[in-house]
Amino acid sequence: MANKIALITGATSGIGAAFAKKFASQNYDLIITGRREEKIKQLAAELMALYKVNVEVMLIELAKKDDLELLLQKVAATKNLDILINNAGFGLLKKFIDVDPPLYTEMFAVHDYAPIRLMQVALKNMLAKNKGAIINVSSFVGFFPAPDRASYAASKAYLSSITESIAEEIKDSQVRIQVLCPGMTRTEISERKGASLDEFVKKYYGRLITVMTAESVVESSLQALARKKLVCIPGVRNKALVWVRTLKRLISL
Ligand SMILES: NC(=O)c1ccc[n+]([C@@H]2O[C@H](COP(=O)([O-])OP(=O)(O)OC[C@H]3O[C@@H](n4cnc5c(N)ncnc54)[C@H](OP(=O)(O)O)[C@@H]3O)[C@@H](O)[C@H]2O)c1
Repeated sequence: MANKIALITGATSGIGAAFAKKFASQNYDLIITGRREEKIKQLAAELMALYKVNVEVMLIELAKKDDLELLLQKVAATKNLDILINNAGFGLLKKFIDVDPPLYTEMFAVHDYAPIRLMQVALKNMLAKNKGAIINVSSFVGFFPAPDRASYAASKAYLSSITESIAEEIKDSQVRIQVLCPGMTRTEISERKGASLDEFVKKYYGRLITVMTAESVVESSLQALARKKLVCIPGVRNKALVWVRTLKRLISL
């Protein structure tokens, strides 16, 4: 019998790579996307050797229209896609007034437009078969006002909101959808935006949160998916912070 298939965007490192390892270990064939060619091809080779699954690598810059089009064609043609994980993303740490305007466009393209289009195409096939699952990797920051990360937080809030609305639209089907809202997670994202993760956590959260591993985030996500939970916030402290923020907001209305 053919293996199930999972497609993961941004699987070169961090949470995407952890999802790739997890699904490969469960005998899924993978389609993984990224931009750092050597690193993602090395991951693919390791997973194929270790788990004897098929791993196809696509080098995709999600902010580029032509690249996104190629990926959309792949998703449309993969009629038996079981899991889509919209994970690719990047950080942007700057005061709102100092952000170079094209970065806003890029952030919306990667965090929102690409996931929306990929979901539209994948959902058509999944709904036709009445099975499949989509995980959109958002962030718990989307629940908060986030100084110096205004556009990042807003782009994640958008992704969370649209996922919750789509979930209502497809609630009578067997297709599962999740918005995954990790808190601080030890990956390459912080260093890539020019900040050490530990300094970043100290400055914005003090001792309020615990930094999680990508593997524990993936475990929480998959446990929540098995329970058909729509919103997954890994980590008790992260959940508590969101509860407090939600309460404060309600009280202020
Ligand atoms: N780490 C955290 O604390 C945290 C917390 C909450 C949410 N998240 C979210 O989790 C997701 C994964 O991030 P991570 O922390 O695992 O970071 P990471 O290790 O830096 O991985 C990010 C992945 O996204 C890909 N990517 C970034 N920009 C892209 C673009 N323009 N086009 C195509 N691919 C792109 C990267 O590809 P290349 O490496 O090949 O360039 C890489 O595979 C992101 O959506 C992030 O916002 C992270």
